[in-house]
Amino acid sequence: MSERPAETSPGPRHIGIIMDGNGRWARRLGLPRSAGHRAGARTVRRITEHAARLGLRQLTLYAFSSENWSRPEGEVRLLMRLFARYLRSERERLLRNGIRLRVIGRLDALPALVLDELAASMEATRHGARMTLCLAINYGGRNEIVDACRALAARAVAGKLDPDAIEAEDLAACLYQPDMPPLDLIIRTAGEMRLSNFLLWQAAYAELWVTEVPWPEFDADCLDRAIADFRRRERRFGGLPADAPDLRPSPTALRG
Ligand code: FPP
Repeated sequence: MSERPAETSPGPRHIGIIMDGNGRWARRLGLPRSAGHRAGARTVRRITEHAARLGLRQLTLYAFSSENWSRPEGEVRLLMRLFARYLRSERERLLRNGIRLRVIGRLDALPALVLDELAASMEATRHGARMTLCLAINYGGRNEIVDACRALAARAVAGKLDPDAIEAEDLAACLYQPDMPPLDLIIRTAGEMRLSNFLLWQAAYAELWVTEVPWPEFDADCLDRAIADFRRRERRFGGLPADAPDLRPSPTALRG
């Protein structure tokens, strides 16, 4: 059996997490789904602080997708109240820990109670230089790309952009957080093997790590394991490892 390679790459600087399994965790314990989401909010605090201790530049958490509006009204309301409460109660702690809060998503559809708390947290923590905590709320990767295309199209229509000259960097500059550090690793809890519309553009060369552990039980040790695994991966970005054999025919073979 081949041995696992030693940790080869530096640690990830930006991790995105698809926080899944609150409901299943609660059901297993005979609790209402709301208890799962509340436990999930406690995990957000724990993992954010651990990520900052590890020296990550950014942690992006998928809190509410553009598809989550199709959940029962009561659950949507509960989640919105939970986001607002989290933002209010954690503001001081984020500030103390040097963590800057940012948000991505279509914000205009969010209730005022969430928007107000978001605005207050972003303003209070704007100088936080240790790590950025980015919440994806009413976020959809397809919507993000559509919104960027709309911005580019508007510039083209205004005669300020030549459509034939559009490059990937132009679109990237119109994403919700244009200065987002490259996404290195996506973690998904509770076992599903899909991206569910999370950071589709940014995921192009991110590594994936899926665990069966549901989000309320995800802890510092789980994050450490994901990072250790990431560091053993060889990231090629479509290229070849440095020691790959050269497959170009030799000049003699070409002649003969
Ligand atoms: C998906 O799991 C999870 C969500 C749609 C909500 C995520 C929200 C939290 C973790 C709550 C706290 C967040 C913040 C930012 C304070 P699910 O509940 O649908 O799980 P299931 O698939 O097992 O039902």
